Amino acid sequence: MAFSFQGHKEWINEVNFLGVVNHPNLVKLVGYCAEDDERGIQRLLVYELMSNKSLEDHLLVRGTSPLSWLTRLQIAQGAARGLAYLHEEMDFQLIFRDFKTSNILLDEDFNPKLSDFGLARQGPPAGLSHVSTVVVGTVGYAAPEYVQTGRLTAKSDVWSFGVVLYELITGRRAVERNLPKNEQKLLDWVKPYVSDSKKFRLIIDPRLEENYSLKSAYKLASLANKCLTKNPKSRPKMSEVVEMLGNIINDTLPPQQETEPETETQVVGQETEEGPDQMDSGKEEGCGGGNYMRRAFEFKELVSLRNRSCGRLDWRYWTHGSR
Ligand SMILES: Nc1ncnc2c1ncn2[C@@H]1O[C@H](COP(=O)(O)OP(=O)(O)OP(=O)(O)O)[C@@H](O)[C@H]1O
Ligand SMILES: [Mg+2]
Repeated sequence: MAFSFQGHKEWINEVNFLGVVNHPNLVKLVGYCAEDDERGIQRLLVYELMSNKSLEDHLLVRGTSPLSWLTRLQIAQGAARGLAYLHEEMDFQLIFRDFKTSNILLDEDFNPKLSDFGLARQGPPAGLSHVSTVVVGTVGYAAPEYVQTGRLTAKSDVWSFGVVLYELITGRRAVERNLPKNEQKLLDWVKPYVSDSKKFRLIIDPRLEENYSLKSAYKLASLANKCLTKNPKSRPKMSEVVEMLGNIINDTLPPQQETEPETETQVVGQETEEGPDQMDSGKEEGCGGGNYMRRAFEFKELVSLRNRSCGRLDWRYWTHGSR
């Protein structure tokens, strides 16, 4: 179990929302209590225990073993599923408003679950394009239009998701005060590297060493750039993000994984020099597209499926008149 201490409004919010949401990528509320004592109201929330703590702990706190590239992609996809559920799959829409690495918790198998619904806000009622609200959240993650106008939409979460994707790529915090001034804001720092395909690999988390696919990293950066488009309407929906991440994961998986287990990732330098889409390019380009490895994988799958179905439909197993 894990405990949380926060203000009354956030506490009520969290109990209300966590009481109704139900998804494998959202943390479960095990219990809550509020008691009056000499110090005032003491409020407590009890969540399911997430044995690998938060993504922040693994990605940004030194001393832990680095997350593999594939695990990063899978964590991103699970977290995207959690947001897609909140935005698109319930009777009402929920905007999370505080999407960041410390609110992505990891279970024993590194499956991600979003926690901290204290700032979550119901989406706009039918016919309205946004909710007007005071700006809350965490510096470095909040969408620019929300910070400037207080107009909140689900697309603000999509922006924050883009920031987290760059944290996964670089292993750096959204804002890092201990770095030189020009490197403190992650999005400002990555910009020149993202627009130059030769420089792109320089921003990739050094803790990955050579164990990642450059092509896959390009694709993830392209997706991040789509999420970080200035015009919120041009950002993808989270269900689209889930799908694009699925394509990136499929292209990253080694074809031999099921039959001949080999190294999990490809080595940088063996791949195309094409760079990611530019930040805020507004271009729409799917992240899928079969490469040779994927086609080989699909072919193997097909053969193995055929063999399996031939086995099941083998004429020798047919008995006349059987059901
Ligand atoms: N259910 C849980 N299981 C295991 N560890 C947890 C759980 N919830 C939180 N933690 C740990 O506690 C840390 C702090 O979480 P907490 O939500 O209190 O603060 P935060 O996310 O850093 O900031 P904020 O108050 O803005 O959400 C997390 O990074 C994680 O390591
Ligand atoms: Mg938190």
